[in-house]
Amino acid sequence: MPAIVPTSKIWLDGRLVPWDDAKIHVLSHGLHYGFAIFEGIRCHRAERGTAVFRLREHIERFRDSAKIYEMRLPYGVDDLVRAVLELARANGAPEAYIRPIAFTAYGEMGLDPSTSRVQVAIGMWPWGAYLGEAGTQHGVRATVSSWTRIDSRSLPPQAKCAANYANGILAKLEAKAAGYDEAILLNSAGIVSEGPGENIFRVRNGVLSTPPASSGILRGVTRDSVVQLTVEDGIEYQRTGFTREELFTADELFYTGTAAGITPIREVDGRPIGSGKFPIVQRLQSLYDDAIRGRAPRHAAWLTYVE
Ligand SMILES: Cc1ncc(COP(=O)(O)O)c(C=O)c1O
Repeated sequence: MPAIVPTSKIWLDGRLVPWDDAKIHVLSHGLHYGFAIFEGIRCHRAERGTAVFRLREHIERFRDSAKIYEMRLPYGVDDLVRAVLELARANGAPEAYIRPIAFTAYGEMGLDPSTSRVQVAIGMWPWGAYLGEAGTQHGVRATVSSWTRIDSRSLPPQAKCAANYANGILAKLEAKAAGYDEAILLNSAGIVSEGPGENIFRVRNGVLSTPPASSGILRGVTRDSVVQLTVEDGIEYQRTGFTREELFTADELFYTGTAAGITPIREVDGRPIGSGKFPIVQRLQSLYDDAIRGRAPRHAAWLTYVE
């Protein structure tokens, strides 16, 4: 994974500060218990300048993550939308990944977070395809994890909370140690859920499907965009999940995510998927690229231009 390449400024508690000055205390409460909620957003060079993709939806999910964990955000959705744009402008509107985070601050310790102040920061930096350019083009090799996906009875998967990601980290480490690029997690019922940082889709006989929200996934903004693009393009979509063995019988499989984009899966546990070609994935990659770069008038509302 390439190191973070700094941009000029970070937005920290309502102020733009130089990148190197955006520091917190090692005894910050959120660091110790994983009590932090965050988002992953991207801005791209689009037809009319740099544009943030589905900014409001991401910030609304950020607010919902905070609600789920009873974290009192000191800023509203409109404030944070403005903050992202202000930061992007201050950094010269690069093509970048944008990371808002809210966490309990230094000052209190112990499991009760209710007395801790909540700090909010937003950083951005250039970040290429999460599973690599080669993966985006030729597909990645995935393995079904021995770790079970968290569920609503333990760590609510629909909140993008730092603590939840310990589950994905275990799956990622296991996948890497076994020589794979990425993991696929099953939920506690043994049904396919998602990747450590991506949703998953299956194509069989021209029909697309993806696990429902109840299967232990984060409701992906890319997932939602892909479903809309699929339906508009006349590709059949069924609102059903799938089992482990249905991974092996898929014609095409792919991950979606803000970081990963749309990444085909060419192999699961050593078994090649379909014919090794991904015509529907390629079609969706092209439609998605049009949408994020402002070439899809129908989806102009998905973009917020920085300038
Ligand atoms: C666990 C998990 N699932 C799915 C996704 C994909 O969501 P999105 O498309 O909104 O980036 C992400 C990335 O944020 C994630 O971390």
